Amino acid sequence: MKVFVVVLKQIQKAAVCSRRWVSSCARGGPSPLRDRTLIVGSSRELVQSLGGQVEVRAAFITEQEEEAFLRELEPGLKKKRYEYDHWDHAIHGYRETERVTWGAACEEVLNRVRSVAFPDGSPLLGPVHILDLDKTGYIKAHIDSVKFCGSTIAGLCLLSDSVMRLVKEDSNKEWLDLLLPRRSLYILRDQARYSFTHEILKDEESVFNGQRVLRQRRISVICRNLPG
Ligand code: OGA
Ligand code: MN
Repeated sequence: MKVFVVVLKQIQKAAVCSRRWVSSCARGGPSPLRDRTLIVGSSRELVQSLGGQVEVRAAFITEQEEEAFLRELEPGLKKKRYEYDHWDHAIHGYRETERVTWGAACEEVLNRVRSVAFPDGSPLLGPVHILDLDKTGYIKAHIDSVKFCGSTIAGLCLLSDSVMRLVKEDSNKEWLDLLLPRRSLYILRDQARYSFTHEILKDEESVFNGQRVLRQRRISVICRNLPG
């Protein structure tokens, strides 16, 4: 997927406004992450106006479901080497793969992702994209190619918490930070996907709302739709 992205420069940063996000839980019941703030931004107005196009759902998958993904993905990923040396690429310290067919447990989760993230009947990109970032890996600011990907990007986050930053392409004073807890789902739609760059912060810079967020190895499982 690295060929699908364009790296864009960005500078940071200003005051913070937050929105409390009531997380949804995969199996119901109380979640320790409930009511935790998962989205902050440069202004209240931006958090509110972009709010409908950016979602973070904490505890979208259970520990057992995360294990099912790891069981399916690890054998293939382990055969690949992490790539570090392409300084001009958007993604550093990564290995990646794509997968079309899944075992029952993962397929069930992916159907849940598809049903909450994409409009009914929206044609999806067939293969699911798997991106494995090493502990030192990170993703620079970019916008996914509009030629290959449609209006919606939905990603499951495995193994580590992380911080995703969105910055308005033509006005870098406008930004949102998303805390992506381990086992969460994030969804970027429309303007959040087309007019804002997104990036995953490297461990040294991984701070959300003033709080350090330890970045470990992180695997994302990303579903996209096709351009309309
Ligand atoms: C990408 C990307 C985000 C993630 O591969 O284009 O932005 O969550 N990935 O890994
Ligand atoms: Mn991307």
